Amino acid sequence: MATQDSITIVWRTEGPSNPVVRYGFTLEKNLPETLAADHITVRVSSDVKNNQGYPELYKEPLQQTALRKSTTRDPDPSTAENTYQYEAKISGLSPNETGYYAVYDGNTLLAGDDPSYYFKTLPSSGTQSAQRIWVVGDSGTGGLQQKKVHTAMEKWIAESDDALTQFLHVGDMAYGDGTDREFQRNFFEIYDRTLRNTVCWPTMGNHEGHTSRGISGIGPYYDAYVVPTNAEAGGVPSGSEAYYSFDIGNIHFVCLDSHDLDRRPSGAMAQWLQADLDMVDAEWLIAFWHHPPYTKGSHDSDAEGQLREMRTHIMPILETAGVDLVMTGHSHIYERSMLIDGAYATPTRAEGVVLNDGDGNPDGDGAYLKSAGLNAHEGNVQIVTGHGGAGLSRRGTMPIMREILLEHGSVILDIEGDTLTGRMLNSDQKMRDLFSIVKRGNVDLKPIDNPWQPEKLPAELSALTFDFYQENVGDMPKGFSVTNGRNAEIQLAKREENDEKYIHLKGKEDSMTPAFLLADGFEDDKMELDVNFRIPKGTKLPLATMIYGFTNPRNYFSLEVNAKKNTVTLYKIKSGKQSKIYSKKHKVDFDVWYEFEIKVNNDLVTIEFDDLNLFSKSVGTKEVNGQAGFRSDPDTIAHYRKVELEHH
Ligand SMILES: [Fe+2]
Repeated sequence: MATQDSITIVWRTEGPSNPVVRYGFTLEKNLPETLAADHITVRVSSDVKNNQGYPELYKEPLQQTALRKSTTRDPDPSTAENTYQYEAKISGLSPNETGYYAVYDGNTLLAGDDPSYYFKTLPSSGTQSAQRIWVVGDSGTGGLQQKKVHTAMEKWIAESDDALTQFLHVGDMAYGDGTDREFQRNFFEIYDRTLRNTVCWPTMGNHEGHTSRGISGIGPYYDAYVVPTNAEAGGVPSGSEAYYSFDIGNIHFVCLDSHDLDRRPSGAMAQWLQADLDMVDAEWLIAFWHHPPYTKGSHDSDAEGQLREMRTHIMPILETAGVDLVMTGHSHIYERSMLIDGAYATPTRAEGVVLNDGDGNPDGDGAYLKSAGLNAHEGNVQIVTGHGGAGLSRRGTMPIMREILLEHGSVILDIEGDTLTGRMLNSDQKMRDLFSIVKRGNVDLKPIDNPWQPEKLPAELSALTFDFYQENVGDMPKGFSVTNGRNAEIQLAKREENDEKYIHLKGKEDSMTPAFLLADGFEDDKMELDVNFRIPKGTKLPLATMIYGFTNPRNYFSLEVNAKKNTVTLYKIKSGKQSKIYSKKHKVDFDVWYEFEIKVNNDLVTIEFDDLNLFSKSVGTKEVNGQAGFRSDPDTIAHYRKVELEHH
């Protein structure tokens, strides 16, 4: 922990030692100042013979062992035997003061006395002071990606002009159960080089929550950190290590526990938050916790309780106080929003909650502009930075997001004066997102009715979207129907533009159910059926079927496009029984858009594929009977577009 006039150095030894911290303010001299044992808090594991009455480090209660959702990777989450933890608070320092330190056992150097072991106190509250903050989430696997994300940050910082000043971790730093050993292996050993000189401000993730409890403040998570509970670095005392606030110059930070505390406005945490924000006097307000109010990564904020509650209960309090930036994790993805306000509804929609739908990039659409100071409802940027090491996934598209990236990385924030710049640095040290918020003068901000929208995933578009249109005069098909749709909800909307008539049928969003969509009563010489649908990659049976010539759902013709076998096959289905009419080898590359045409002329059916005549076959009947359809199978790997059905 750092404050404006103190720094707390924390370390451990295996077995007892005579703890001493030596420190000084220049590297040239030997560290002249000493903080000796009687000023250092000592805590010990429960097995240590403890006649000094030291407070104990975590020992898991037996009943909790039984309840714990263990991954069984670490059967004993208690602190390793013979562990001593030392917490040495160096007081009486000046704001923004840099010092160097070393820890000793008596006269024996244990660590430090080298330029990488330094500390820096916080700048005075309210003053302008450049800050460079590293923000990481969901990192604690101990694996390669976690290490790469860390190294990428170190290299990027080394190549830049400014050092890191703070480290924020948004939770899940010690998979799978936040045990003491997992903290050691997956947090302290990985980030060692950063932690020796940069304070980490943490929030507890659900995985730490397997062994640590916000309500009691007990567990390996609470042993691992020293955080301000009594407004030691500004703000209002929270009396809890689970949630707290602090000032860094003109920035006020609020850390919340979204995991295992009451998230309602009447709860102790929200009550404290309100009291804290009532007193805040800063230029910037930044909040962070674990469960994101807006995400469609590995988690869905429209569907999950903790995420919804942080959105509906906590976001209104923060936005009324003028929050600028909210940083969370939990969802293993990078998502960064536009400038938003008032998005409390479920599901989250972008309409009417986006105040600036640009990309926020000073070299692109321009920085997000807000008025100087903290003003209610002037918009904030949400960052989900759950991509620090754990496996990534994306289940959909959160419509308020401006950037959605499925790659490992972290966030580097620069705040200086009236400008905040956020960068996403991936694990290959590439800068993948950049935005700025500038707070200056008076800015008039209003919600945009129809803001920019991120591109949806193919899977989301698998909701069938059929556009029937005809360019000539004449009637549209007389009817439309859906069969085998199960939960496919089709919306029917007619519109006319110029001389063209449209009927738009759209499947329920996120629906992956096979559906037949039928258009009845083709009466014109030429009917074009323009079909758009997309199916996600990576599914097992690449199969798409076009259907025409219905008399009923058991009698029809179908064209199957199979990307696995590279075949295009025409079938006749009579009384539900399928017989093959013709099959042709045709290499199908489903990464590109295709244009299919089925042309029916009496009993002759012609199949065209990207304007190439694939084959013409007699189907032995004239019965095409004015109906045509298209079916998608959930297993299809395909992007299809522009299917034309011509009846002659
Ligand atoms: Fe999580």
